[in-house]
Amino acid sequence: ARQQRIRNFSIIAHIDHGKSTLADRILETTRSLPEREMKDQMLDAMDLERERGITIKLNSVHLKYTHTDGEEYTFHLIDTPGHVDFSYEVSRSLAACEGALLIVDASQGIEAQTLANVYLAVDNDLEIIPVINKVDLPSAEPEKIKQEIEDVIGIDASEAVYASAKSGLGTDEILSQIVEKIPAPTGDPEDPLQALIFDSLYDTYRGVIAYIRVKEGTIRPGEKIRMMQTGKEFEVSEVGVFTPKPVVSDELTVGDVGFMIASIKNVSDSRVGDTITHAHKPAENPLPGYKTMNPMVFCGMHPIDSSDYNALRDALERLELNDSSLQYEAESSQALGFGFRCGFLGLLHMEILQERIEREYGIGLITTAPSVVYNVYLTDGEVLEIDNPSNMPDQQKVDTVEEPFVKATIMVPNDFVGAVMEICQKKRGEFIDMQYMDENRVNIVYNLPLTEIVYDFFDQLKSNTKGYASFDYEFIGYRESNLVKMDILLNGEIVDALSVIVHRDSAYERGKSIVEKLKDLIPRQQFEVPVQATIGNNVIARSNIKAMRKNVLSKCYGGDVTRKRKLLEKQKEGKRRMKSVGKVDVPQEAFMSVLRMD
Ligand code: GTP
Repeated sequence: ARQQRIRNFSIIAHIDHGKSTLADRILETTRSLPEREMKDQMLDAMDLERERGITIKLNSVHLKYTHTDGEEYTFHLIDTPGHVDFSYEVSRSLAACEGALLIVDASQGIEAQTLANVYLAVDNDLEIIPVINKVDLPSAEPEKIKQEIEDVIGIDASEAVYASAKSGLGTDEILSQIVEKIPAPTGDPEDPLQALIFDSLYDTYRGVIAYIRVKEGTIRPGEKIRMMQTGKEFEVSEVGVFTPKPVVSDELTVGDVGFMIASIKNVSDSRVGDTITHAHKPAENPLPGYKTMNPMVFCGMHPIDSSDYNALRDALERLELNDSSLQYEAESSQALGFGFRCGFLGLLHMEILQERIEREYGIGLITTAPSVVYNVYLTDGEVLEIDNPSNMPDQQKVDTVEEPFVKATIMVPNDFVGAVMEICQKKRGEFIDMQYMDENRVNIVYNLPLTEIVYDFFDQLKSNTKGYASFDYEFIGYRESNLVKMDILLNGEIVDALSVIVHRDSAYERGKSIVEKLKDLIPRQQFEVPVQATIGNNVIARSNIKAMRKNVLSKCYGGDVTRKRKLLEKQKEGKRRMKSVGKVDVPQEAFMSVLRMD
């Protein structure tokens, strides 16, 4: 039967190990694209993804492959995003597959992200095909990596494919292992429909396009369907597959991977992980593994030019259509005026959104330092969830505060173990485990407060390990900590957008560092400006910005006109990014300065 000749798989890889390049080789070899249509890195669709070299949104491609047994097989290659913020999406796209290619760079070995995603694949009972890529590199050590895969992941790597996605070496072997090792989908086309939504995106003309994998039953245009988790009902208008161009078909049945359109207006009605069934003959149970994603990191986003407020609201509305894990609500800050408090899955998710708003919608933003969500227990028994430090009640009213913790996995060469442990200790980490992966690489596990990761962790890790560390984390729960709110005063007034919640033990050091930073970042004004850090009524750090009027042109002797113009333009550009707080002009960087230590 046709079902016996379907293979659904994903590619698991750490960033830069060659996932996109290998996907391109597979597309080429199966001749899914005429050569001139073949753009480099077909699967990474968005500009931003290409620029950052990371995959944000998943996609799927339908391929035809003729095996050496003479039979034609249908492959569905499902792409997965490669960053910790999106691990739920990764887990759902893996749940749509029966197998996965595990790509490991022959010169780098297993990295934190590889491991995290392999565990997701193992949890989903996938058949894993190890591929050791970049064997063309002089520094490649494929035998050693093979051993590492067996030792660290604990799967059989004896038939691992040695590949070079760059030259195409190994591609044929990979395709034939896909046929031979990955099981065909099981399920019955006549059973009640169960189709997994593993991605969904919003199209201006068509509404929501759901990417689905049919597990049981058959779905056809004209049918009435129900989303089992949200209970919403719709009528299917179209189904089809991506070749990678969308091609409409009569039906999608057991094992098929493709798209479904049903005049759905909002991606939140077509949630990743939800199960589609028929309204008239529903399945008994939804597919397992559904979760609603809660934002973990919040920040304030305010237009530099307050007349952009409506444009910013429109931009967020449109972005939310495509991103059910983005949250926002209006807020007003004394310092920054009207804007929005926005919630994200993690730091990368936040950066991507900020960049899209500035770039695609042309709105200049002032963003506040990101904050996690605190559980605050008041002495009168009330419990608050605080995602904005300036909303923290007075210290006297607070009984205890809990903060989110994560389990962090860090992989580094031996030489950096000391440096990594020092960072983790300084960041209030709790040592959990350390494991040698081979004679010179170590896997270190710590429990850490999420707020410490938000606060300068990546940068410190990178600079102290010469960029060799790889890092991954997962949320493990809330714990009580000795936390206090620290306010920053400019010219005697609290600047709400600069308040932070800090651990009492590091408050003094943080306060001093923020005050010094602000002193350097805020240009001199026509009067002296005191900068203070306070906890309750206690000033814990203080500095002064001296009064002075700066004339940038006084430095240009004589007539170099272009230089003068450049300086004036630079000054103008700088001004655009300023916000007046009370009587003080504060540049955008100042609002992020609470984030970095150095
Ligand atoms: P993300 O999309 O960021 O997750 O990265 P990726 O895993 O898709 O990696 P990508 O395919 O973009 O490859 C990363 C870099 O490695 C690129 O510069 C590729 O040209 C290079 N590369 C990929 N495969 C090979 C290979 O077999 N040999 C060599 N020498 N370089 C390769």
